[in-house]
Amino acid sequence: MFLPDLNGMFGGGEPGLYCGLAFLLLLCGLCAHTLVSRQSAQYIPGPFLARWSHLWLAYHAYRGRRYKAVHAAHSRYGVLVRIAPNHISVAAPEALSVIYGQGPRAPAKSPFYDSFVCNGKPSIFSTRDRQDHSTKRRVVSHAFSSSALQEFIPLIHSTIGDFTQRMDEFSRKGEYFDALLWFNYLAFDVLSDLAFGERIGMLNQGSDLVEIQRAGDSSVQENAIALVDEREHLAAIVGIHPFLQVVYNSLPFLSGNKATSGLEELARRQVLKRLSSGANRNDILGKLIAARGYDVRSPNTDEVAELTSEAVTLLIAGSDTTSNSIAVTLHFIATNPRVYTKLMELLLEASSGQNELSYEQAKDVPYLQATINEGLRLHSTTAIGLHRSAPSGGLVVCGHFFPEGTELSVPAWTIGHDAELWGDPHVFRPERWLESKESRQYLLAFGKGPRACIGQNLAYIEMISILATILLRYNVEVRSQVLQTTEGFMHKPLDCWIKLSLR
Ligand code: HEM
Repeated sequence: MFLPDLNGMFGGGEPGLYCGLAFLLLLCGLCAHTLVSRQSAQYIPGPFLARWSHLWLAYHAYRGRRYKAVHAAHSRYGVLVRIAPNHISVAAPEALSVIYGQGPRAPAKSPFYDSFVCNGKPSIFSTRDRQDHSTKRRVVSHAFSSSALQEFIPLIHSTIGDFTQRMDEFSRKGEYFDALLWFNYLAFDVLSDLAFGERIGMLNQGSDLVEIQRAGDSSVQENAIALVDEREHLAAIVGIHPFLQVVYNSLPFLSGNKATSGLEELARRQVLKRLSSGANRNDILGKLIAARGYDVRSPNTDEVAELTSEAVTLLIAGSDTTSNSIAVTLHFIATNPRVYTKLMELLLEASSGQNELSYEQAKDVPYLQATINEGLRLHSTTAIGLHRSAPSGGLVVCGHFFPEGTELSVPAWTIGHDAELWGDPHVFRPERWLESKESRQYLLAFGKGPRACIGQNLAYIEMISILATILLRYNVEVRSQVLQTTEGFMHKPLDCWIKLSLR
């Protein structure tokens, strides 16, 4: 009785029947996988549905509220919670050094990250192979060395110059506007300048519309930021189970898949342009090409695919992460008058009363960096627990043994709001970062261990420079005391309406 219905679901006729049978087989595979994986962690409590199916986690990821659901589950069930049949969330600070540890037995990234693979070529971010990762990390780290970062600072300041021109226009109008969009444009322009040697030009254009080549010769205008958001959100859902990944990959018309191909196309175009321009090797892609020893005059298809995959990673990892963090931190500052006043006094002291500050001067205002760390903690830019797999021979975490392949994670939002660690976790109090240097090890915004963010120092340069510039140049007012947020792979505000006036 069930088969004819399935047949109908898949369009009827012989192909429909085969699709229906394939669907049934996959469903059986999913159930068998669930039963087998459940054996590995039977004694760990968790929400009823999560103990039997990945759908509980996938549903909350779909709703953009996974971190909240996992946090609520920890409040109910304790430190160890089964959030999927084969996935244990561990809300214990001492688990960080085990699950995200270094060394030959350190847990690798789990199959969750396969959904982030682009172009069939894993990037530094999505590869799960330890050897492949260390090779890639060695190559990419050239582009983020201290000397490379020094070269980037004037370029970042020049883009911030364009940004302030646009902000001056808003301050003259004296109206509220959505600053999140403009932080996104700024971060995309900075990133494309550093990564590809030219800005995408969103600040000048006042929009994130980019031309994407589609099948045949047709091209369409797409919002680049929406592409990043959609891809990231879809990947965070379908990464939860291989079955979802198979279904997702077989439906190219889904918006997340269209976003992936759009981003790939955008990145590929930048790579080809970069390769054809040859000599200049100062941008990140140039440094990658040089470190790999590729011949820019005749790159092969594999090399172009690899560079494209890294370029997509840079676009996603380095743009809206930074802009979202800037938006939430600025919002926290503007809604906490005590912090705002204190920070302004310190910035004005450092700038000798002027309305601008170089990065070199701004980085020496410890309270500014403390304010950024507090924003990253309280908002939790990274809010989910980053997935890892127990290595061969299994892993002991918090006194429990987990067999090889068990997915493990430490929920970042929950650690960032742990009352035992922070005392008053829901209060925006930057001073805590100056009182105790130990707190730094529990800031999970940039991940932990061998897979921690390689762009962290660059992100701080951007955040420090941009926040110091805005605060010294403008008075900032916010329209709403609370930011609405959502979660894909990263936790982000939906908007950030502010009003600026020149100081
Ligand atoms: C505030 C800004 C940023 C935040 C919150 C952030 C957060 C993160 C996190 C949490 C990870 C680890 C992911 C995991 O284990 O699954 C990561 C990795 C990574 N990030 Fe960032 N990131 C930021 C800025 C940047 C920038 C500016 C770049 C580069 C331009 C960048 C490039 C990368 C790369 C390449 C990886 C993969 C590293 C590896 O696996 O070895 N990120 N980031």
